[in-house]
Amino acid sequence: MLQLMLSLLFCKYKLLQCIFQVSDNNDMLLKELDVEDLHEFFWTDSTVVLSYMNNDTRTFQVFVANLIQSIKASTKPEQWAYVASEDNPGDHASQGVTAQQLKNFSWFTGPKFLWQYELPARELKVGVTEEDDPELRKTFVCNTKAKEDKSLVERFKKLSDWSRIVTAVARLRRQIREYKGKKQRTNECTSLEEKKEAELVIVKLVQEEAFPHLIKNLKQENVTIKTKDSKLYKLSPFLDEDDLSDKMFIFPEETNTAHASLTTQKQDLSAVTVCFRSITDLSRKHSLFSLATPSASNGFLIYKNADSNVINFYVGNKMAQFGAQDYKLNMWHSICSTWDSASGLVQLWLDGKPSIKKFTGGQNITRPIVIIGQEQDSHGAGFDIKDAFVGMMSGVHMWDYILSPCEIQRYMDDLNFTPGNVLNWRALEFQTSGRVLIENKQMTCH
Ligand SMILES: *[C@@H]1O[C@H](CO)[C@@H](O)[C@H](O)[C@H]1NC(C)=O
Ligand SMILES: *[C@@H]1O[C@H](CO)[C@@H](O)[C@H](O)[C@H]1NC(C)=O
Ligand SMILES: *[C@@H]1O[C@H](CO)[C@@H](O)[C@H](O)[C@H]1NC(C)=O
Ligand SMILES: *[C@@H]1O[C@H](CO)[C@@H](O)[C@H](O)[C@H]1NC(C)=O
Repeated sequence: MLQLMLSLLFCKYKLLQCIFQVSDNNDMLLKELDVEDLHEFFWTDSTVVLSYMNNDTRTFQVFVANLIQSIKASTKPEQWAYVASEDNPGDHASQGVTAQQLKNFSWFTGPKFLWQYELPARELKVGVTEEDDPELRKTFVCNTKAKEDKSLVERFKKLSDWSRIVTAVARLRRQIREYKGKKQRTNECTSLEEKKEAELVIVKLVQEEAFPHLIKNLKQENVTIKTKDSKLYKLSPFLDEDDLSDKMFIFPEETNTAHASLTTQKQDLSAVTVCFRSITDLSRKHSLFSLATPSASNGFLIYKNADSNVINFYVGNKMAQFGAQDYKLNMWHSICSTWDSASGLVQLWLDGKPSIKKFTGGQNITRPIVIIGQEQDSHGAGFDIKDAFVGMMSGVHMWDYILSPCEIQRYMDDLNFTPGNVLNWRALEFQTSGRVLIENKQMTCH
């Protein structure tokens, strides 16, 4: 077999170097040399490159994959062999040598083994592609647990500046309201109010992602920030805005729009306790606490009847009436109401006095929308000015179980109590719409 060492190829580590030399020299030489049965051999001192070329089971990052593909297009892996670094003239080029030294190196002559009559047994020194090689394309088995609020923050990165993010979030929130039927569709520009609200939402989202433990702790009743990971500890952090402890909602005018919508993550309730304090001078019927589900607009409704001192309590559209309630006008009242699906019994507490228990029955409450200030005749909408609440309200809590009489008494007496796990006045998620104001509770002086 005639062996011509014409196309000497020495590659350093850099694949790129190989590929230029291979594609430039190889095809051209083959064309120009009119020799049949020409055997070509290629050497490299990079076992890594050899392993890349010899491993079909691996997938590589695009750049490397393309280079390997291109080498494989004009040569076969079998044509490649290993050459020690010392014998590789390519090495001299990348290391740099003086003109003097050059005479001594194999730059002009090639490595000695090429001058032998027979090529030495080609050393197969193929490295193993390591699993953690950065050029390997990782195959992931994804077990996705999507959490919407997180991914929203992630998505902010796609927007180039702050004002775009604010506008995007403001529009998103408007669309959600439109979709839920809480707002009429409009094409207006986002208002200053909507933008301010959006800014708050963004800051809250980012804070929740950055300090999840801290915020969870602060939401608990007893603020004991034990978490060592909280660098903010010394700054005495507290949750503002949402903590309405000393605040109240004011519904100052009779409309069929103004309301506060309270949101919860709990979407399936088999028992409920709701407590709140309210004051009004309305002698007409009015809604105090309106919870609607997709199947029942009066899913859980506390409603002052037109008859004085009668309070209607609906669960799953079924009504129980509680009479002889001492519901004086122009006085703050503490009202608690309990229901559980197992017995179907409801009970009302007014200023510490429990009613008798009555039956409404009722299935699990699912996908609740809670609104105060208005009464829902459909899921999240259908307000009527004749049911509207005018007055002030505070201390709204909701639990997904029945509070013991003692706990209810503690709520009534304004002592320490376990805050609501469905709605928590101290960490309330809510939106107001129309003229609803939040002010400090007025202390009565005795
Ligand atoms: C060249 O190599 C010879 C022997 O291998 C050595 O004696 C000589 O010093 C070398 N010259 C240079 C310039 O490295
Ligand atoms: C190809 O790569 C895998 C994983 O790195 C390795 O287990 C396998 O031995 C390699 N095959 C060859 C021919 O090098
Ligand atoms: C909250 O702290 C008080 C004392 O500061 C304690 O009496 C009460 O039991 C605590 N409540 C809870 C729910 O841990
Ligand atoms: C009712 O709600 C409870 C608590 O969320 C849940 O465990 C139960 O499976 C629900 N029952 C039905 C029939 O959906």
